[in-house]
Amino acid sequence: MGIECAPLLAALHEVTFRGGEVWDATSFAALLSGCGTEATVAVFGTVPAGFILARTILDETEILTLAVHPDFRRRGIGKSLVQNVLGKGKVFLEVSVCNIQAAALYEKCGFVKAGLRRGYYRDGSDAQVLVSSNV
Ligand SMILES: CC(C)(COP(=O)(O)OP(=O)(O)OC[C@H]1O[C@@H](n2cnc3c(N)ncnc32)[C@H](O)[C@@H]1OP(=O)(O)O)[C@@H](O)C(=O)NCCC(=O)NCCS
Repeated sequence: MGIECAPLLAALHEVTFRGGEVWDATSFAALLSGCGTEATVAVFGTVPAGFILARTILDETEILTLAVHPDFRRRGIGKSLVQNVLGKGKVFLEVSVCNIQAAALYEKCGFVKAGLRRGYYRDGSDAQVLVSSNV
């Protein structure tokens, strides 16, 4: 999906990351207007239930954010969204060392630890760098 989905992504991001680092529609529009950035939205029935935003530069793809609405979790939606991006080749991402559920998801999808970025997030927490092991 393109820039037109920025408001939808912002709404899903808000409900998913409430109390954390929420990105607004302007931020999503700016990201989506950049070269190589793509959003995929998962629809459950007729309801948008989650999305993944990824940026591909040459042969590397970075997962910028992943969100599944709290009402639709543990149904395989997050895993399907990640697997969809894995088809692109080498994939990497940053995830908070405090984010146990996302770390479990990425491990299940075959990601391995590649580094640590200290103080990466606004609250001062560290980010684990993960890379796909399918390459
Ligand atoms: C992380 C997140 C995307 C997972 O989405 P989801 O659709 O619920 O995940 P899935 O149903 O595809 O789960 C796949 C696997 O991930 C792991 N997992 C997912 N949620 C988990 C949880 N709360 N606790 C432990 N393991 C979890 C499990 O191994 C799960 O497999 P299983 O259900 O067979 O046990 C979702 O919880 C979310 O949006 N969290 C807030 C935003 C976030 O942290 N995004 C990632 C930022 S990098």
